[in-house]
Amino acid sequence: MINIIAAIGKNSELGFENRLLCHLPNDLRHFKDLTTGHAVAMGSRTWDSLPKKPLPGRRNIVLTRSRSRVDGAEVARSAEDILEIAAKEEKALFIIGGAEVYKIFMPHADKLYLTKIVSEFVADVWFPEIDPGEWQVSDIEFVKKDEKNQYDLYFKTLTRKR
Ligand SMILES: NC(=O)c1ccc[n+]([C@@H]2O[C@H](COP(=O)([O-])OP(=O)(O)OC[C@H]3O[C@@H](n4cnc5c(N)ncnc54)[C@H](OP(=O)(O)O)[C@@H]3O)[C@@H](O)[C@H]2O)c1
Repeated sequence: MINIIAAIGKNSELGFENRLLCHLPNDLRHFKDLTTGHAVAMGSRTWDSLPKKPLPGRRNIVLTRSRSRVDGAEVARSAEDILEIAAKEEKALFIIGGAEVYKIFMPHADKLYLTKIVSEFVADVWFPEIDPGEWQVSDIEFVKKDEKNQYDLYFKTLTRKR
């Protein structure tokens, strides 16, 4: 099973200059809670952007064509490699970004865990289009901003329609 997890702005913004849009401790906790104990797969640019790596308590897999090894993570050379790993994993594998990699795995994903941040951001990468004919909202939770978290957000789970 393949899950996608991402935090996006009002216009599907994902990041800018190889950084996240903003720092939201509540979303980081949500990401950690959902992904810990699972395999996580990411593009090499997202790996480069991580302040601390590998992500602890998770099998870290980096998708790259140009690097033969990556310190602290397994390397996958193609999307097919990731699909094979996911098929062998007992638990869901999470695709954790970035834009290029989300696009590749959207047709293969079973669930989307989206944090919808209620704000617009300057961005240079965006989440791919979500076809409402293919996905249904299975869970949604509104979280209000507070002194540590600058924006209101929704934790939204979408499940592929069968
Ligand atoms: N908001 C969020 O939830 C979230 C999450 C993650 C990332 N982001 C943001 O997204 C941005 C990074 O996204 P990005 O699209 O620029 O890069 P990316 O998807 O993280 O990585 C792209 C790299 O992945 C490798 N790759 C892609 N397709 C491949 C394939 N089919 N086979 C083998 N390797 C493949 C290539 O690596 P090589 O060049 O090494 O060959 C490519 O350059 C950053 O701003 C980051 O902060 C946001």
